[in-house]
This record gives sequence, C-alpha cells and structure tokens, in this order.
Amino acid sequence: MNTTATTAKTADITSADSANTQALEDFDVSRPELFHQDNWQQWFARLRNEEPVHYCKDSVNGPYWSITNHADIKAVDSNPGVFSSEVGGISIADSVASDDPTLSIEAFISTDPPRHAAQRKTVSPSVAPSNLANMEPLIRERVIDILENLPVGETFNWVDKVSIELTARMLATLFNFPYEDRRKLVYWSDITTNVPQVTGIAVDMEARQQGLQECAMAFIKLWHERAAQEPTFDLISMLAHGETTKDMIDNPFLFLGNILLLIVGGNDTTRNSISGGVLALNQYPEEYEKLHDNPELIPNMVAEMIRWQTPVIHMRRTATQDYNLNGKNIKKGDKVLMWYLSGNRDESVFPDADKLIIDRKNARQHVAFGFGIHRCMGNRLAEMQIRILWEEIQKRFKKVEVVGEVVRVPNNFIRGIADLPVVLHPH
Ligand code: HEM
Repeated sequence: MNTTATTAKTADITSADSANTQALEDFDVSRPELFHQDNWQQWFARLRNEEPVHYCKDSVNGPYWSITNHADIKAVDSNPGVFSSEVGGISIADSVASDDPTLSIEAFISTDPPRHAAQRKTVSPSVAPSNLANMEPLIRERVIDILENLPVGETFNWVDKVSIELTARMLATLFNFPYEDRRKLVYWSDITTNVPQVTGIAVDMEARQQGLQECAMAFIKLWHERAAQEPTFDLISMLAHGETTKDMIDNPFLFLGNILLLIVGGNDTTRNSISGGVLALNQYPEEYEKLHDNPELIPNMVAEMIRWQTPVIHMRRTATQDYNLNGKNIKKGDKVLMWYLSGNRDESVFPDADKLIIDRKNARQHVAFGFGIHRCMGNRLAEMQIRILWEEIQKRFKKVEVVGEVVRVPNNFIRGIADLPVVLHPH
C-alpha cells in the first residue's frame, strides 16, 4: 500500500473544507474513514450539486461510479435489466472475484429477474402484515422487558443494551431461534459485514470462517428440525417447506447466503436506526419537544429517523450494457454505487435535509429501503419494531439523553454506531 497516499487522504478528510477544495476527479467517497468520522456530508453535497453521476477512477475496490441524487438512484434501482445485482454483487467489495468463498455466498438480494422473484416470494409472507400483527404482542413484550430493566439515572451504552438486544430478540422471534443463543445471530451478522473491503481494517479471517461455519451448522440443524415438522410461520420453516426453496439446503452457499441475508438484513439496519433515532432527537431538541406534545407522530417519525440515519449507505449494481445516465456514459461491466445516504439528503426532495423533522410530509419517500424489485423485504417489520420501541419509551421516559461521545464504525456499507452513552430521565 502507498502510505504517502493514505496519509494524504486521511489528512484531506479531517480538514474542514477539503471537500470544497479537492478536485472532483480525485473524489473517492468510498473511504470508510468518511463514515467513521461522520464527515461525509459535504463530499456528497458537492457531488450532488456539481457532478451527481461521478466516476472514481481508483479506489481500494477499483474504479466505480457514484450515483448521488434521489432521482438517479431510483432510476438505477428500478432498472435491473441494465443494472445487475447478480453480476458482481451488491456492495463495493467484488463478490465474485474474491479469494474468500464466504464473500461469494449467494442470496436472493444478489440475483436478477427471473430468479429473484421466486425466492423472494417464498420468504416474504413471513413479514406480511398479517404475520406482523401476530408478532406484534411478542415484540412489544420483549421491548417492555428491555426497557423495564435498564439502569435509570446512570450512564450506559444504548447500542448494546437496547439497539443490539432488541434486534437480537426480534431476529430470534423471526427465526424461532433458540432464545438464549440470540446474541450469536448478532455475532454472525457482524462478521458477515465487517470485511476489510468495506471497513478498511484487517480481520481474523480464520475466526470469521469458523463463525460462519458455526452459523451454517446451527441453521442446517434447525432446517432439518423444521422440515420434519408441520409448516409454521417462522422464516426457516417457510424456506424448508417452500416449493422453490426447499432444495436450497443442497447448495451450502445459497443456503448460508439466504440465512445471512435475513440476519444481516434484520440486524445492522434496525439496530442503527434505533441508535440513530436517539441521536437525532438529541441533536434537534425541538423535535423531541414536538414528540412529547404529539405522540401520534411516532409512525412518521420512524420513517424520518430511517431517512436520517440511512443504515445501508450504498448498494452496488454492475452495468450489463452501455448506458447513458444523466449525461454520463456508463460502460458495460462498470461498477455502479447508489449512495442511499446521499439520496436521502437531496435538498430538491427533502428541504433542510440534514435535519430530523419528525412531521416531515414526505419522509416516506426516502430511499433507505432501496427502490424497485429489491426494495427491503423487512421494511414493515423494521418500522413496527422501532414504532413499538418509541411508544414504550414515551410511556416511561421524559428523555433518553446522549451524554458522551458517539463512536461510529469505519464502514462504507453499514452506517453504524458502536457506542452511544446515554442517561435515562423518567417522567
Ligand atoms: C431500518 C431497517 C432496514 C433498512 C434500512 C433496510 C435496508 C435495505 C436495503 C437498502 C435493501 C436493498 C434494497 C435495494 O437493493 O433496492 C434491503 C433489502 C432487504 N432487506 Fe432490508 N432493511 C431493513 C430491515 C430489514 C429487516 C428487519 C429485514 C428482515 C428480515 C430485512 C430483510 C431484507 C431482505 C431479505 C432484503 C432483500 C430484498 C430483495 O433482494 O428482494 N431488512 N434492505
């Protein structure tokens, strides 16, 4: 690695106005430090204003296009015929060219029509409104249990005690996974997403491999148990009995990939929306006041929190033919990144976009769940979970106050918060 270049880039990022002075042709917005330092806003604002479809000729993950405004992101996301999820995978890290087979795992998020629809159709009833209504009382019970056992008046890390714990409980509910082992789901999700290609930091690949094997074994066991039983409405049972997915078990990469898709899909994303929401309300205290006075705003607030946080920073596609997008010639084989985080701060769609506005009229137009055929399958489940959490928080606490430094993760795929020190103030 060229250490001089690395130092120069790091220096650029920490400098306050470097985003305004650096030449656009040198922009590489995929650097994980941007998100680690939460210093990405001005870089993307400049791209949106001056070159919304931008080519980065060189990065750790090779050249790539950045799609940064709301309209262009929707155009790419709704055109799977030109922009494939299957050819190169869905993140900036190339899934096929990698030496690491666990980066090549298959899942329906990385497929194109017509394969995609068949697999999604089998799993999606598990998160359909009727099934969610069945899950709601159990999720509420588990939320209340978490909140009732929090330390009041002393500092603790909200991420660990609430965001992670709640998502672990929700995932265990969704899979009907052994409840006492629920934190394993979090660990497996973490090792799946924390790869050097997106974090910029080395990981113990052997431990990762071992963890993923343990995950596969646990789910293979569950699969066989559920396959031998009558179908139920948990995800594993649905996959094991689904006409188009029941043979998935014969293909370990496909099997592991789809399980991990559901774990990762439901874990990092919801976790960080929960943490981000607390942070946002603290940054905009007038909005916290608004919430106190208007608790009926909670459902809209949840959408706005997800827009504001945008836990999935980007999704990647690969062009399968030459294509002109917003005046730029994308070539067949090019890597195309849809920066959802940037699309959700597009001022032409969301005035005062950097601000959380809990009664924002068009909060639901955000692209944090993507757009088109791959639009997040678990979006209603995620919203339900966060809604229930805020309903129950409001009943108990006047404020969840952020009292210390926020620690973020270096990752250009997941916008993650690792540490959020808070103190609870009861009514
Ligand atoms: C706030 C929480 C969440 C956010 C922000 C989020 C975000 C996303 C995004 C950006 C995509 C890709 C969309 C695209 O390519 O157009 C996606 C897909 C997906 N998500 Fe979520 N997600 C969340 C929660 C969940 C939950 C709770 C589940 C639970 C099962 C889940 C399961 C999935 C699945 C299975 C896909 C693949 C859909 C497909 O390819 O057809 N997500 N999600």
